[in-house]
Amino acid sequence: MLKVNGITKKFGELQALNNVSFEVGKGECLGIIGPNGAGKTTLFSVISGFLRPDKGDVRFKGISVVGKKPSYLAKMGLVRTFQLIKVFKNMSVGENLLVANSNNPDFEKEILKLIGLWDKKEMIAGNLSQGELRRLSIGMALATKPKVLLLDEPFSGLSVKEAENLSNIIKQLEKDGITQIIIEHKLKELFGVADRVLVLNFGRVIFEGFARDAVRDEKVIEAYFGQKHAKG
Ligand SMILES: Nc1ncnc2c1ncn2[C@@H]1O[C@H](COP(=O)(O)OP(=O)(O)OP(=O)(O)O)[C@@H](O)[C@H]1O
Ligand SMILES: [Mg+2]
Repeated sequence: MLKVNGITKKFGELQALNNVSFEVGKGECLGIIGPNGAGKTTLFSVISGFLRPDKGDVRFKGISVVGKKPSYLAKMGLVRTFQLIKVFKNMSVGENLLVANSNNPDFEKEILKLIGLWDKKEMIAGNLSQGELRRLSIGMALATKPKVLLLDEPFSGLSVKEAENLSNIIKQLEKDGITQIIIEHKLKELFGVADRVLVLNFGRVIFEGFARDAVRDEKVIEAYFGQKHAKG
C-alpha cells in the first residue's frame, strides 16, 4: 500500500531524516515512536506531500508520489492529521465535515456516528472537548475516504475515557481495511492498536518490529526510554 524508500531530509545543517525506509500493507496499523525531535512529524510531512525530501522515494499503491501536492494525494486516498488539531472553531461540527468533503454529504452521518459526534452535529466546534476535537479532525480526514490515514499524536491531551473511545475508532478503521500509521508518545494506547512499530532516533530507523520486542531492544531503551521527555 505504502512504500517509503531511503528518505532523507535536511533543514540547513540539521539532518531531520536519514535514509528512512519501511513498508505498510493494506489494513495494517503501524506505530511510529521516538524521542522529541526524532523526525516523526517531518516523515509524515514528506509522505503526505507537505515537504519534498532531498532524497528517496514514496510509493503509494505502486506509484511514486514524491513532489505531488497534499490535495492530489488526498484525492488518491492518502491523508494526514496534524499534531496540533486543525478545525474551523467558529463553524459547526457538520460544517467542518462539509468543508472537508462537500462532494460527499451523504457520508456525513456515517462519519459522525463513527466518531461519536452525531448528536453534536450543530455544535460550534470551538465548544468541543479536546477528545471531541481530535475525533472531529479524524472525521474530517475520513471525509476524503482515505486508503491510508496518517495520525500525528492522536492520543495527546485525551482523558482515559476519550483515549478508549479513540482506540475503538482506530480498531474499527482497521476492520474497514484502512491502513493507518500512528505517531504517538503514549505507548500504552499505541501498543493497544498498532500491529508493528517503527522507532526513529535522530532521523534514523533504529528498530522495526513488534511492540513487545521494541520495549526490550537495547538501542530503543537507550534512545527512547533512557531520556526524559518534555511531553507524553
Ligand atoms: N520546518 C522546519 N525547519 C527547520 N527545522 C525543522 C522544521 N521542522 C522540523 N524541524 C526540526 O527537525 C527535527 C525533527 O522535527 P520533527 O517535528 O519531525 O520531530 P518529531 O519527532 O515529530 O518530534 P515531537 O515528538 O516533538 O513531535 C527537529 O529538530 C525540529 O526542530
Ligand atoms: Mg511531531
